[in-house]
Amino acid sequence: EEEERRKQISVPAEPKSKRVSLFCSLCLSAKFVTQIFLVCALISLPECPPLGLESHRVEDDQLLASSQSHHGFSAQRGRLNMQGSDNDEDLYGGAWCAESEERDHWFQVDARREVEFTGVITQGRNSELHEDFVSSYFVAFSNDSSDWTLLHDGYAEWLFYGNVDKETPVMSQFATPVVARYIRILPQSWNGSLCLRAEILACQLPSYENEVNPSDDLDFRHHNYKEMRQMMKVINEECPNITRIYNIGKSYQGLKMYAMEISDNPGEHEPGEPEFRYTAGLHGNEALGRELLLLLMQFLCKEYNDDNPRVRRLVDGVRIHLVPSLNPDAYELAYEMGSEMGNWALGHWTEEGYDIFQNFPDLNSILWGAEDRGWVPRIVPNHHIPLPENFFNGSLAVETKAVISWMDRNPFVLGANLQGGEKLVTYPFDMQRPPRQNEGALRETPDDAMFRWLAMSYAHSHLTMTETYRGSCHGDDITGGQGITNRASWKPVVGSMNDFSYLHTNCFELSIFLGCDKFPHESELPLEWENNREALLSFIEQVHRGIKGIVRDVDGNPLPNATISVEGIRHDVKTAVGGDYWRLLNPGEYKVTAKADGYTPQTRLCMVGYDSGATPCSFTLTKSNWDRIKHIMALHGKRPIRLITKVNVVKTTAASTVAAPSIDTEPENPANTHNIARRRRLRLMRLRRLRLQRLRAGLRTTPATTVTTTTTTASTTLPPETKRTTSWYDSWFPVDEWSTENPFDSVVFEAVPTQDYPFEYTID
Ligand SMILES: *[C@@H]1O[C@H](CO)[C@@H](O)[C@H](O)[C@H]1NC(C)=O
Ligand SMILES: *[C@@H]1O[C@H](CO)[C@@H](O)[C@H](O)[C@H]1NC(C)=O
Ligand SMILES: *[C@@H]1O[C@H](CO)[C@@H](O)[C@H](O)[C@H]1NC(C)=O
Ligand SMILES: *[C@@H]1O[C@H](CO)[C@@H](O)[C@H](O)[C@H]1NC(C)=O
Ligand SMILES: *[C@@H]1O[C@H](CO)[C@@H](O)[C@H](O)[C@H]1NC(C)=O
Repeated sequence: EEEERRKQISVPAEPKSKRVSLFCSLCLSAKFVTQIFLVCALISLPECPPLGLESHRVEDDQLLASSQSHHGFSAQRGRLNMQGSDNDEDLYGGAWCAESEERDHWFQVDARREVEFTGVITQGRNSELHEDFVSSYFVAFSNDSSDWTLLHDGYAEWLFYGNVDKETPVMSQFATPVVARYIRILPQSWNGSLCLRAEILACQLPSYENEVNPSDDLDFRHHNYKEMRQMMKVINEECPNITRIYNIGKSYQGLKMYAMEISDNPGEHEPGEPEFRYTAGLHGNEALGRELLLLLMQFLCKEYNDDNPRVRRLVDGVRIHLVPSLNPDAYELAYEMGSEMGNWALGHWTEEGYDIFQNFPDLNSILWGAEDRGWVPRIVPNHHIPLPENFFNGSLAVETKAVISWMDRNPFVLGANLQGGEKLVTYPFDMQRPPRQNEGALRETPDDAMFRWLAMSYAHSHLTMTETYRGSCHGDDITGGQGITNRASWKPVVGSMNDFSYLHTNCFELSIFLGCDKFPHESELPLEWENNREALLSFIEQVHRGIKGIVRDVDGNPLPNATISVEGIRHDVKTAVGGDYWRLLNPGEYKVTAKADGYTPQTRLCMVGYDSGATPCSFTLTKSNWDRIKHIMALHGKRPIRLITKVNVVKTTAASTVAAPSIDTEPENPANTHNIARRRRLRLMRLRRLRLQRLRAGLRTTPATTVTTTTTTASTTLPPETKRTTSWYDSWFPVDEWSTENPFDSVVFEAVPTQDYPFEYTID
């Protein structure tokens, strides 16, 4: 009926919007035709997409202006959402600004061919200090850039009302589309200095159909919360055997953070199969990542069903988790405003005001502080650093809490979060530390070479990410044409998801910045999918680079929570519940050691080649002598053991304990040798004191010699030590508690493991 009626009423030349005309036809059928029609026109959305000033699809030489106030405020800075450095002398101003002496001002865009212009979006200058924006302007068109026609409303030149602040974009639409090649904005009044950022809305004429024809038949649209859920449900129904939908928690507003798992056996961790994650939408207004992940789900499902061998290999060999929206509340906000009309920041934070990406516990300071004291890895581990005790007390978004517990539940190996506003890949560390005398603020991770490779594998598979000859989105190209950079050297942040993931879990996490336009127009999605498809796939495939294996005991039982160390890389990983582990490594030969509580460590030589596929490198650990003794002691109700052989073992350990302080196992830091040796001596003394207490309590028959040595040495150097260890750190990692569990064992392990327990050493 509505359709019929709409055909009968001749609607005047309307903005070319299907959505709008449908909506307005509804309006027209109502009583107050004129008023409501006005409302319709005001809220109508443009069907013509942006020409691409913000996305940089419009190139620098297509922009021109009558003048510029300073070389940092050229026409090329007049792109919507351009971010300036707030330094007036700098090359990178936050807008195009005109020379104030000039009388006629214009800002011109060359579309390179005739198009149908339908509207203009303007914005003021991005600046902390200044309140510069254009409040009214004329628009003119030309086909040759010399004859200009001002836009008329039938009676006079049409004066458009512009901005009322510097950040909110304001859109003006023309009554009818105008065919031309050039468009000019002619500012008539402004606040502060004459500064402007803009986007132009235009449709290509039918004769130029050079749009990308996507090679994949996918749903190239923006999806709000409900549509996203629906889309995931449809994918799940199409591929029930390889997909599973779950959620990792709820946002502040109660929206679920949905995840799609894609794997040959969804729902379970299969020992030997690595886990991978892509997350997007940490900032709700960075919407491209969300759509790319929805497209990736569709693609994997379709291609799996079509027997694409590469996709089959991926899905069968990796457990892939895709989370399109980590900040659903904020996305809804940005989505309401539409792809062009939100400003740079709307929808960036959570409902409570947190930036999720940098809302994680700062473990870097804990690690670096401990490193300065020489406590790593003996007292503080170099990996899986526990959460500070009262962290959940403080300022943590509900979304962040959900992400942390998700990270703890799944043994992820590799991941990336998709962001926007720049076009590059960043790798950790993301945090700087205050520089000191002879140390800069930047610290490399022990896995720097691997991280660079991972970043490179995305940036170089992306079709345009390394095309940085035109500079980056807002300033110089800081990546040297590689499309990758260390985050801390670019825009350092504290408490980032990437640093946290690296220091608290096994997972290597990077940030992928997908492009200048945080919320691209729907019409850009096919092109962006083409740009990113190969990169998204080949980044997942990197999860197979390095070594993997299973740590078992001699009876074949898997050992979870065992530590895998690689010589020369001071960052360990741990085995998952199935005793399985993955260690991302570049090609090379590595000496790998597996350790587990109560077992004798084992070292093997493992090779990583250039072919794809992780090198198998498994371990079988034998129980350590001390573990056996503990068992026997437990059987006897912790009473003295009278067997002569056992007493001998105790003696041996005691002897090695005494010898330990003289052995320097930390050659890399000769300046500190004295301190380290002293600290170790003091530690041993504390252990002995403890043991002494134990002996006094029960073991009266143990050889007296041990006891005497302990007491004499202890009385000489104990007092200064007591002060030293009651420092800031002890509350988190109580030194005594950490080693009381099995004092003898840990002494043997850390000081002279080779004397008591010769390594098993095999060559692969
Ligand atoms: C540009 O040329 C087209 C025909 O090719 C014409 O329809 C249009 O009106 C011209 N635009 C201007 C501003 O002269
Ligand atoms: C206009 O600019 C002046 C400074 O030039 C500033 O004080 C004022 O707040 C601005 N007006 C608005 C509406 O921002
Ligand atoms: C799912 O697996 C079952 C049995 O393994 C098979 O019969 C069925 O065709 C599969 N469905 C799809 C959609 O692949
Ligand atoms: C915060 O942490 C402290 C311990 O550091 C604890 O005593 C206190 O109860 C916690 N407060 C809340 C609100 O959880
Ligand atoms: C894992 O091992 C560490 C010591 O390496 C220990 O502190 C921790 O409690 C263990 N965790 C589990 C879950 O067993």
